[in-house]
Amino acid sequence: MGSIVLLDDQTINKIAAGEVVDRPASIVKELIENSIDAKATAITVEIKNGGIKYIKVVDNGQGFASDDVELAFERHATSKIRKEEDLLRITSMGFRGEALASIAAISKVTLVTKNINEDVGRCVKVEAGNIVSNEIFATTTRN
Ligand SMILES: Nc1ncnc2c1ncn2[C@@H]1O[C@H](COP(=O)(O)OP(=O)(O)OP(=O)(O)O)[C@@H](O)[C@H]1O
Ligand SMILES: [Mg+2]
Repeated sequence: MGSIVLLDDQTINKIAAGEVVDRPASIVKELIENSIDAKATAITVEIKNGGIKYIKVVDNGQGFASDDVELAFERHATSKIRKEEDLLRITSMGFRGEALASIAAISKVTLVTKNINEDVGRCVKVEAGNIVSNEIFATTTRN
């Protein structure tokens, strides 16, 4: 009898996450790169316990479109390339569509965002790769 099995999705995602996130600093790097790609001019980073307990990155970039907030946490989901040829002319820091999915697979994530073209924002919570809530987040200021 053979000994090979196909791994389940949860395990596959954990392995993939380990390739992107090998330590807390990798999470900070990925999130800052996303902020830069979103054209942020100000980025703040707050960490507790060397990033093991808590990492918070805030940017003033364009924000996520509300239609994108759940898809952003899927593997291979990106706004930065569309097709194979685009790989030859990358102009962004990210392009794999892997970082947020990897981070979300191994941590509890809260995304609070408002797109520059929308009036209200979104608050999305993700645990073990699963969206657990996605709510309208009303803000009092416009950017
Ligand atoms: N700070 C942010 N502001 C606005 N949109 C963001 C931000 N971070 C991520 N996004 C959106 O979410 C998508 C997924 O982010 P993710 O980091 O997973 O992938 P990526 O940056 O496209 O590629 P890579 O995995 O190589 O980093 C991005 O393509 C972008 O559209
Ligand atoms: Mg990225």
